[in-house]
Amino acid sequence: MAELDPGALKLISLARAVRERAYAPYSGFRVGAAIETASGNVYTGTNVENASYGATVCAERAAVFGMIAAGDRGITRVAVYAEGPELSMPCGMCRQVLVEHGPSAEVLVAGPGGTRTTTLAALMPEPFVFEGPR
Ligand code: THU
Repeated sequence: MAELDPGALKLISLARAVRERAYAPYSGFRVGAAIETASGNVYTGTNVENASYGATVCAERAAVFGMIAAGDRGITRVAVYAEGPELSMPCGMCRQVLVEHGPSAEVLVAGPGGTRTTTLAALMPEPFVFEGPR
């Protein structure tokens, strides 16, 4: 596995720390995400579950919503941290949301067993792009 630079390690540690605050009483599966933008700012998010299961929001999208609310754009790097037997990859809906704001972002998927480094382009090769009505 390639060496992770200090910025990547920091982002993973932020995702790991924010995961502690996840609201996941239904699945018990807590996820933390941290996204870095071109401005150098970092936004974190956790999954927020709901009694109406479909209203659940994933950690990655929660982090994106924070970025948008702060008036920022341009995701350069995303870290996701969860604990389970396998690394927890971003779901399809999160990939679609992330790619809109960071098509060339690096993705760090981390857990107690290590980190996998990939890209959004690899995870979401043919995203839906809205070009308006004809
Ligand atoms: N979850 C995330 O937070 N991110 C993902 O990319 C996949 C799934 C959350 C949603 C739900 O609260 C829990 O993990 C189990 O699906």
